[in-house]
Parts: sequence; structure tokens; C-alpha cells
Amino acid sequence: MKFVRQSIPFLSLLVALSLAPFRKAEAHSFEAGDGMFLLDGKPFVVKAAEVHYPRIPRPYWEQRIRMCKALGMNTLCIYIFWNAHEQEEGVFDFTGNNDIRAFVKLAQKEGMYVILRPGPYVCAEWEMGGLPWWLLKKKDISLREQDPYFMERLELFEAKVGEQLSDLTIEKGGPIIMVQVENEYGSYGEDKEYVSAVRDIIRGSGFDGVQLFQCDWSSNFTKNALDDLLWTMNFGTGANVDNEFKRLKELRPDSPLMCSEFWSGWFDKWGGRHETRGAEEMVSGIRDMLDRGISFSLYMTHGGTNWGHWAGANSPGFAPDVTSYDYDAPINEAGQTTDKYWELRRMMAEYTDGKLPPVPKEFPVISIPKIEFNEVAPLYDNLGEGIESVDTKTFEELGQGWGCLLYRTTVPQDVPSESVLTVTEAHDYAQVFLNQRFIGKIDRINHETSVVLPQLKEGDVLDIYVEALGRINFGSAIKDFKGITEKVELTYTLPSQTTVTMNLKGWAIFPLPDDYQRQRDMAYVPLTEENKGVRGNYRATFTLGKVGDTFLNLETWGKGQVYVNGHAIGRFWQVGPQQTLYMPGCWLRKGENEIIVTDVLGPTEAAVEGLTKPIIDKLQLSAPQTHRLEGQTLDLSGETPVQEGSLEAGNGWQEVRFASNATGRYVCIEALNSHWDREYCCIAELYLLDADGQRLSREPWQVAYADDEDVTSGNKNADKLFDLQESTYWSTNKGVPYPHAVVIDLGQDKTLSGFQILPRMEQGAPESIKDYRIYVSSEPFKM
Ligand code: GLA
Repeated sequence: MKFVRQSIPFLSLLVALSLAPFRKAEAHSFEAGDGMFLLDGKPFVVKAAEVHYPRIPRPYWEQRIRMCKALGMNTLCIYIFWNAHEQEEGVFDFTGNNDIRAFVKLAQKEGMYVILRPGPYVCAEWEMGGLPWWLLKKKDISLREQDPYFMERLELFEAKVGEQLSDLTIEKGGPIIMVQVENEYGSYGEDKEYVSAVRDIIRGSGFDGVQLFQCDWSSNFTKNALDDLLWTMNFGTGANVDNEFKRLKELRPDSPLMCSEFWSGWFDKWGGRHETRGAEEMVSGIRDMLDRGISFSLYMTHGGTNWGHWAGANSPGFAPDVTSYDYDAPINEAGQTTDKYWELRRMMAEYTDGKLPPVPKEFPVISIPKIEFNEVAPLYDNLGEGIESVDTKTFEELGQGWGCLLYRTTVPQDVPSESVLTVTEAHDYAQVFLNQRFIGKIDRINHETSVVLPQLKEGDVLDIYVEALGRINFGSAIKDFKGITEKVELTYTLPSQTTVTMNLKGWAIFPLPDDYQRQRDMAYVPLTEENKGVRGNYRATFTLGKVGDTFLNLETWGKGQVYVNGHAIGRFWQVGPQQTLYMPGCWLRKGENEIIVTDVLGPTEAAVEGLTKPIIDKLQLSAPQTHRLEGQTLDLSGETPVQEGSLEAGNGWQEVRFASNATGRYVCIEALNSHWDREYCCIAELYLLDADGQRLSREPWQVAYADDEDVTSGNKNADKLFDLQESTYWSTNKGVPYPHAVVIDLGQDKTLSGFQILPRMEQGAPESIKDYRIYVSSEPFKM
């Protein structure tokens, strides 16, 4: 046999070897051509499925990728979650479920291209938008800005990402066709220098030959748009596609068009209704784009799960996300098909040459009979060592990322009357105990700040048990410290009517981190009539003859976290809408399994069953979600509007300047009717302008009143007016007569010069308000 080598002259061999990694057969090209993307020089429409590797157990990656492929998708779009890879400063992990290289290679093996979105910030309803909590140990850090420490850490991280993936870009023979720079920066700020610096860092980490892009909304992308990057738009099901690309087409008539996040559904928050979006609207939106040759990424095609403490929280305000990231996506949380899946597949088949690949098999589902817990480790017997401190400290100051802290102090003197204990601020869910007796809760979601204490004696023990929920992942409040962020005060009135406020000092702080080993090592005792229902950890073992996916029903439990066989399965909370936690079969064992439930409230029954179907749409609220008390009606008689007029019909922002400035804390928007005489009216977003015509911060805003809110067909509460999400909106109910009114409490008096308003994103801005009046007052309006 003749060796090939012998037939090649030495010099040619050297050339061949040095070119080996870039051989023609492997290297491809992907670029933004004239009005379209070009793959190896030929027109290519990106049909991307957004899926997130840390939200899917690694043994299921392949099945999920094939599910996407069977939808006719040709690309996977993935974020990289910095805080999952660098949980401790300087300690990087790209193994197991964090093995992005393996994920990207698997995608390639399955014939899929990859769009990489390495942040550093990703939003994604993920703890702190993907930023590591330990950045907040530097208290004065500026996140997503050119803060030297932030930039230094992000450069180090992106270099690690580069080590993992930069040789897998398309021109080097890999599947990565595009890489994103930052994420929707327009909804955070205006800082081209920062975005340019991130771009340079990403290029510098090895992504220098691949197409870079930035994604934003049509209403704000020009704020940070860099000349040398491709611009893509994000918008959701129902949006008016032409309108979304209008501005981009004006500025760059030759740019290929891409919706880099087409929202298939939406995320759920604790205490809100389960979000859904219609299959028909989703499918027709994608059809609309395909008909015009517009590329898209369907966010999410499969949402997956926010395991453990990874769920984030939305803002303005504080709206923590649930554990399930089902997202009402075509592939549900457990990797199963849905009606939406089949409808989408049918439509996508029309836009695919040849046949779609077969739909892969789903994983088996099992039920697990009731597991009765027989061991408990009560909170009060497991506090461990406290840390002495004059002042309260945050989680970050104590070097703790997640879990709970219990703050203890003694009352310095007798307080013979009732007093008010004010915590500034409790992040996120605090419970106050006096001599270990529960007094009340302070829930950040409801803007609660205080509880009333009974008479106190010197030496009484005061405990504040604070549970951290996800760190805010959206908007300007992402610098979200946990625990007690400032101080605790006790206020009471003396018989002389003088008010006394004491700043409480001298604390013992007990760390209760979210750490499986610690949960396991607690002192468990038998569960008895005496200790049943206490706050603390509950443990049980259960035996399985066969494994499979299941949904653990936590309906009888209070609030906390679940661990099975050492896997942090996620948070639960009786308020819902999520009542079951998705338990993948790949983390269960044939034979004995262990389950630990940490319950910060205590269960009514310490038992868990494995169901074959999830319950993610069941609210158990003690108070309604709406902003109008029983029998309450706003009375505007005697009030003079600061402005009245008519809004225009159609999509997009409108601005109105008041004839003269007005000052007040309460702002009422009254809708007198709607365009086209609709039976209900909606507003997507509202800003108020200060004396200089600048947008006021909406952080402190609260809805003081809303005459009507549609909470049956979705979460269309009045706070959607200032949730910074252009695709969600406040809506009244069909058939409830005009006028409609919302009163916003700005927190303090402000001088106002006008407002900006955005109707719904859907074609023609349906249900938009026509005639309106605005009232401003320093005092609450009469009810
Ligand atoms: C934006 C963000 C995503 C995600 C969606 C909402 O588009 O870029 O990360 O937060 O909103 O699900």
C-alpha cells in the first residue's frame, strides 16, 4: 500500500498541515449581505430556537435540541450566564451542566447553527440578569458601566468564554454564526462608550472574525447603536412586524432584518396569573416574517427551569419570578410537545425544503405516591453561630450569595405602648418574631416596610428572619442587595405625645445559606404533633421502582426551596401560580432517593406527591391583585385637569406637554373613550416628564387606584403602565363603561411638564385611548 504522505512533497505537506484547521471543507462564511444574510454566499434565513443550557438537565440537551430541529429551526440561540460559570470570584466552571463547549458541539453534531449571546448582562429572568452577586461586595460598583472593577471582571470572564468557544465560530469550522454584544442596552441606559468597550472585549476574546450584533427595541435602539455592528430588533407575539422594522429600514435600508427575540409567551411572577400567548398569533407573526425573508429567534422555543435560586425578579417594583420557565413556549418545561408546537411545526414545514425531521420521543413520566416526611430540623434549633455586628449587614457584606439571614437583637429598654418596627429595607421577605413568637411579615413585593409590636420589655429578643428571592434582572435596579439593606428602627409615642425613634444596634446575624450540604447536616429529629408545621427543614426518603419525570406537588407547603438527591430543584410558594416543581427523571434513582424541603413558613401537611401533569396556573392569594377596594369609586368632581386632549391613533410613542407645569404626588389618567369606540382601553407604557422635559424615574411609583383591571384574561393590571415592558399592558375589562381612571402615587411631590404614552404594540394599536384628562394633586384624590 502506498502512503499518501510519500506522494506529497515536503513543502506541500507543511502548507497542508498549517491550513488543516481552516480546510475549505470545514470553514464556512456567514455575513450580513444586501438585505439578507448570506451563508457561504447564498441567501439564508435564520430560524433560531432560543434555549438555555443551564435551564435543561444535561442528559436532556440532545432531546431538546432535536425537538427544536423537528420544528424546522436551523439555529439555536443561547445566552451565556456569567454567574452560573463564576459562582465565586475567580473560580470558573465549564463542566457538567455548565459545559457550553459540549452544548455547542452537540448543536453542531445535530446540524444546527448557534447564535451566542455572552452578555455580560443577559436579563433572561435569571438572577441579576446573569451578573455574579459577588460584584456587589464592592458596594459602590456601577454595573453595566465603565466601572474599572466591573470591566476588569467582565474582561476576564469573556476571555474564558473565548477559550471555550472562539474556535467554534463558522469561519473556523464551527457552528457559531453570530455573537451578541451586551443585551437590550437601550432599556438600561445610553452609553455608546461602554457598549463599544464590551464589543472590543468580545472581539478580543477571539470572536474577531464572526458577525457581531446588538439587539434592542425599535423604540430605543438608536440610543446605543454602533456603526460597525448589525442591529436586530426584539418584540413579541402580536406585534406589528412592519412597524417594528420601520426605523431600522429608514436608517439602514440594506440591512438584513432579524427579530432576535420573538416572544412566544412570557414569564410568570409569584402572585400573578400564569402568562400565556395565543398559538395562532405566534404562528402568524413568524409566518409574516418568513414571508418577508426576515430572520428570527423564537424566545423561548423551550424555556426550561430556573433551578435552585436562579430565578430573577422583574422591576420597577419587585416582582420575583417563579421557578418554572415554561414561558408558554411551544416545547413545555418538561420537553414535551404542546398544541403550539404542532401548529408551529405545520407552518414551518411550508417554509422548509424537504421533510422536517421526526419529532423525538419524550421522556417517560411517572407519578410518585404521597411521600410523608418524618424528620424535621426546626429553624430555631439550627441557627448555628451568629456573627456579632453593631449594625445590620447585607448578604453581600457577609459574603453570602443566597438563602436566608436571621438578625437578632435585644430590646434596649421597656416600651410601654405599641411600637412600630420599620425595616429599611427588607430584601425580600422578612418575618418578625418577638421572643420567638411570630408577629408579622414584611413583604417587599407589596412595598411593606413595618410591623406593629406589642408592649416590650428590656431584654426581649427581637428576630428578623429574611429570605432572599432572586436578584432583580431588569432595569436600573439590578444592583439589588439582599438582607436588611440599611437599618431597623423602633418608633413609639410617649404619654406626652412625643414620638421617639430608636435605631436598633447590636445584632447577632445567623447565616442560613442556600447550600445543600448545610441543609443536610442540620439536626433532624422525628416529626411529631408538637413540632409539626414549624419553620425549618423537612427530610424524607422514598423508593422508586422506575424513574421518570414527575411534578412534585408543594401545595400544602408555605414557601422555600426543595432539594432532591442533592439537586436544588427550585423555589416554591403557596401563593402560586406555580404549585408543582418539575423533577427530571434523570436526577432520580431507582431505589432510595432523598428529598429535603426548606420551608420558611412551615407546611400545613408535610407530604409531597409526584404528579404526571404540572400545576403552574393556580393562585392561592389572600388579597385580590387589583387596585380598587370594595365599594371604592374615584370622585373627580371639584378637580380641574392640568391637561385634556385627544391622542392620535396608531402605533408608537406620543408626547404631550402640559400648557403649564403642575406639581403633585398623585397623578390621575382618565380615559374618556377609545379610538374606534372599543369596549375597553389599554396603555402599554407611560412616562411623566419633569420640569426639564426629562423622564421621571418610575422606581418609586405605585398604583393608588384603578377603576378596572383585566386580571382574568391575563395579568393586565395597572402597574403594567410602568413595568418597562413595551409588550405588556394595562387593560380594562370588556363592556365596563367609560370613563376609566388610574391613579399613580409618585411617592412624593414632583413638578411635571408633560407625559409620554405608548399604546399596544399590535398592528394599529388596538384599544388605544382617544380623549383623555390628566389630574395632578399633592393630596390623594377623593374616593
Ligand atoms: C428581553 C430580554 C430577555 C428576556 C425577555 C423577556 O427581551 O432580552 O432576556 O428577559 O425580555 O422574557
